[in-house]
Amino acid sequence: MLEIRGLRVAYGHIEALHGIDLDAREGEITAIIGSNGAGKTSTLMAISGLAPIKGGEIKFEGKLISGLPAHAIMRLGITHILEGRQLFSDQSVEDNLLLGGYSRLSADKAAVRAAMEREMDRFPILRRRRRQLAGTLSGGEQQMVAISRGLMSEPKFLLMDEPSMGLAPLIVKEIANTIRGLRDSGRSILLVEQMAAVALSLADRAYVLESGRVSLQGTGRELARDPEVKRAYLGG
Ligand SMILES: Nc1ncnc2c1ncn2[C@@H]1O[C@H](COP(=O)(O)OP(=O)(O)OP(=O)(O)O)[C@@H](O)[C@H]1O
Ligand SMILES: [Mg+2]
Repeated sequence: MLEIRGLRVAYGHIEALHGIDLDAREGEITAIIGSNGAGKTSTLMAISGLAPIKGGEIKFEGKLISGLPAHAIMRLGITHILEGRQLFSDQSVEDNLLLGGYSRLSADKAAVRAAMEREMDRFPILRRRRRQLAGTLSGGEQQMVAISRGLMSEPKFLLMDEPSMGLAPLIVKEIANTIRGLRDSGRSILLVEQMAAVALSLADRAYVLESGRVSLQGTGRELARDPEVKRAYLGG
């Protein structure tokens, strides 16, 4: 579904990605793990049209998307749930969700309503907190809003950047179950995680990024058993 070949991203003359190849298949969870600064966020940003691409190409459903503006990429059905949630903290839960539906559904008020109800069924806590300002929610609740906001536009392909960041283990589990459920209902997902154990347990296929290069790839299970991955990312 997504094919990345020789992707280079550079900020000024600092190159963050030195030519990476990555494939994400339809209906699968593809995970990228790697340490701080490895280039995980830059990869997602390049896909969604938010990072400066200096070489290589990205195809989505066979169509070249590298070079397209972010809004055009989003309209093709790719949604990016940014690192650190990035909610509008002084707006309500409901308004944050509405903003997610804005791009693809805004002409159709009934569709936006239906999408909002669907998301509040997914995370019932959001229904109880619909009028609460997003900035006053707990970290876990904020991540739920970020995921739901991303799903409002009914994307085919979801980019998720560190959804478990800063969350308690129980909430991480709940978010992981949500991600698995999205895959099981046919959604395709590219998941970036520093919590390698979580990512590899979810991933159909996974990549290890090290200093802007893919150092290893395989199924989630293969990488979880790999001695090097165990040593470097799974705490022995
Ligand atoms: N806007 C920017 N301007 C300059 N350099 C940047 C910018 N964004 C990222 N970088 C650099 O690019 C490299 C890769 O950063 P990136 O954010 O992609 O890493 P990451 O794997 O997501 O890290 P983390 O796990 O900390 O989120 C880093 O060296 C970073 O300093
Ligand atoms: Mg990052």
